[in-house]
Amino acid sequence: MLPALVFLALAVFAGALLWSPHAGRAAYLHLMLATGAMPLIFGAMSHFIPVLTRTREAGRGIGIIPVAALAGGALAVAAFSLGGINWGWRAGAVLAMASVLALFVWSRKRRAAMLGNPHPCLGWYEAALACLFAALLAILATGVWPQYFPGLRHLHLHLNTLGFIGLTAVGTLAVLMPTVTGRPDAGAAQRLRRDLPWALGGTLLIALGAAWLAPLAWLGLIAWAVALARMGAAWLQLYRAEIISLHGAAPLLAMATAGFALCLLAGAAATAGAALDPAAVFIAGFLLPLVSGAASQLLPVWLKPGVQNAWHGDMRRRLGRYNGVRALLFFTGSIAAGLKQEWGLLLSAATLAWFLLQAAASLIPARRGEKSRR
Ligand code: HEM
Repeated sequence: MLPALVFLALAVFAGALLWSPHAGRAAYLHLMLATGAMPLIFGAMSHFIPVLTRTREAGRGIGIIPVAALAGGALAVAAFSLGGINWGWRAGAVLAMASVLALFVWSRKRRAAMLGNPHPCLGWYEAALACLFAALLAILATGVWPQYFPGLRHLHLHLNTLGFIGLTAVGTLAVLMPTVTGRPDAGAAQRLRRDLPWALGGTLLIALGAAWLAPLAWLGLIAWAVALARMGAAWLQLYRAEIISLHGAAPLLAMATAGFALCLLAGAAATAGAALDPAAVFIAGFLLPLVSGAASQLLPVWLKPGVQNAWHGDMRRRLGRYNGVRALLFFTGSIAAGLKQEWGLLLSAATLAWFLLQAAASLIPARRGEKSRR
């Protein structure tokens, strides 16, 4: 299920970017975020929550949650592309909320069933799910209070992008980077514990600030900067060589973190009147390197769970080849897209398509090698 969600998300991202010059903004953004990113994140969380709580693997039934979220996202995209059919996207929001609730309750049960304390990344996941639930509630509330639509829309989009995706990503990155490099980050768990209130508080302040009271957004920006700067400083000290490298997952994961910071800055500058598009920076500079970087590391484990052998290492090497170049291309694409140059998103789509083709091609020899070993 997880590899299928990865390939679906990557294909949906590339398709949505190519569709973007012709589609409505809400339609193509939700194609990426609600049908691509949301189900993939749910799938990834159902893989990681048992690891973080040291409990048994997720049962098959949990697989229904990302599928229901995907259906909710698809309903929203259909409603937007058919001209904003209100009942359509509202039904999508309700379905997505039911999936968030199911995943949250399952996570709390796993937390209650475990011995000792969970890894602090679990707190980031639960905060991310709470943000998504609140974001969907906010957009549904526009039906009751249509006069507050602009504010509630801002609440929805910030809680979703910075809260749901941002918190999930930063929590996961703190755990993933040491795995990718094969060298531990002794301060990661303590940092995650200490920085969650900063990141969550920053998200809420930015969302409320963008919706109703601009100065709050500046405070939120400072709070997020604290959390990102602490992680960035630790990484530069520990993983500089892997980050500035031609191959491997690390360059893309570092690019995603830098892209998230760039997106926050672009949002602040846009609020102050600059002609920038922070959503485009979010996609080209953060989401695309994040998903392709994480896939370079995790796809082999998700394709073949269990004991890691030469097959996994070989597959990882193939997936990570030239990720350093892709990180630079995503960076260029995000700057151009943030400056509202159409070619920025197209360059990012082409870079993603390159990764997608490389991933598809690496599956073939990896499987052939496995057969000949048997
Ligand atoms: C089924 C779930 C969802 C529904 C029903 C939904 C619904 C909506 C609606 C009605 C709007 C306002 C569109 C307008 O301005 O006319 C909106 C905006 C937005 N939503 Fe969602 N949403 C969903 C999920 C998500 C997710 C998961 C994300 C991101 C992770 C997201 C990010 C955004 C963004 C960025 C905007 C602003 C789009 C723009 O700039 O025009 N949404 N959403």
